[in-house]
Amino acid sequence: MSKILVTGGCGYIGIHTIVDLVQNGYEVISVDNNSRSNISILEGAEKIIGKKIKNYVVDLCNLKETETIFEENKDINGIIHFAAYKAVGESVEKPLMYYENNLGSLVNILKCAEKYAVPNFVFSSSCTVYGNPDAIPVTEETPQKPAESPYGATKQMGEVIVTDAVKSSSLQGILLRYFNPVGAHPSVLIGEIPLGRPANLVPAITQTAIGKLPTMQVWGEDYPTRDGSCVRDYIHVCDIAHAHTLALNLLINKKNKVNPEIFNLGTGDGFTVLEVIKAFEKTSGVKLSYSIGPRRAGDVVAIYANNNKAKTELGWLPAKSLEEMMDSAWKWELTLKNNKTS
Ligand code: WQD
Repeated sequence: MSKILVTGGCGYIGIHTIVDLVQNGYEVISVDNNSRSNISILEGAEKIIGKKIKNYVVDLCNLKETETIFEENKDINGIIHFAAYKAVGESVEKPLMYYENNLGSLVNILKCAEKYAVPNFVFSSSCTVYGNPDAIPVTEETPQKPAESPYGATKQMGEVIVTDAVKSSSLQGILLRYFNPVGAHPSVLIGEIPLGRPANLVPAITQTAIGKLPTMQVWGEDYPTRDGSCVRDYIHVCDIAHAHTLALNLLINKKNKVNPEIFNLGTGDGFTVLEVIKAFEKTSGVKLSYSIGPRRAGDVVAIYANNNKAKTELGWLPAKSLEEMMDSAWKWELTLKNNKTS
């Protein structure tokens, strides 16, 4: 059974990926310093898979500490690297903290991959690397525009670092560019636990609907889009998680054609902010309280994926509809509230 190290394993996409990996026959260990995540999320994942998950509480910016993981696990066959700060707004206020954390941890984990001869590496990238694209949908060959934030810049630089690392070693790599991950596992035992006021649209919707937030704003209704609000490619977090399992399968079976391989992970459909709100209201039956606010700095007008490469080369088929994404997100928010009161 292949042992996989998942960094940021207690994070939103990390925990869903751990569940998918284990359910597809992989052995998984996690490393997460819980600076931006809640270790209690492991309990939900352990209930789903019926086994314990070992998590190393280690700061990947500390190389010595990180090496202990590999000293204790000499048979790691792959690394999936999620660990990073990801708040766009915060990155604008504290760019150096983002460069130090996101790139320092990446360099250290790649050093360990080299030193301990780990053969396979999957990097958590983002559609943010495209910036404001001239043409949509974007393919993996769409030229990258300047990043709209230091967070986006760390993803662009991260891709360069991984590319140079794999070209100078025997490491095989894949870069996965997520569009907008939303929703929660159907068991409602794991989901997103935003820290503080959520910057992202869907947790802002569900927290407003449940009353954690009094109201929310739609950042801009004067864009050149169908209804004036921004267009994004929302993708269910379980579909994103399964793509990681398929990416590892491709590397372990040595079926990758280039090194690194790059894949867009989006549904290929774009929805506006107002359409997402309508889909939420339809599935939850809750009338959302919101107002139209000013545009948010750094927002891309419209982006969605051409996902043909992931479909043909990974055999990946995103299955969940926007309504299913909203339904699972709402059910998760209700669970968080019930857990608080229980
Ligand atoms: C989506 C749309 C907002 C909140 C970023 C990163 C991406 C990924 C996901 C980290 C935008 C609008 C939002 C609100 C709103 N990384 N919105 N009111 O900015 O597309 O992507 O987060 O996880 O790499 O770039 O996602 O959910 O923040 O915003 O109107 O209260 O919703 O303006 O148009 P984004 P988002």
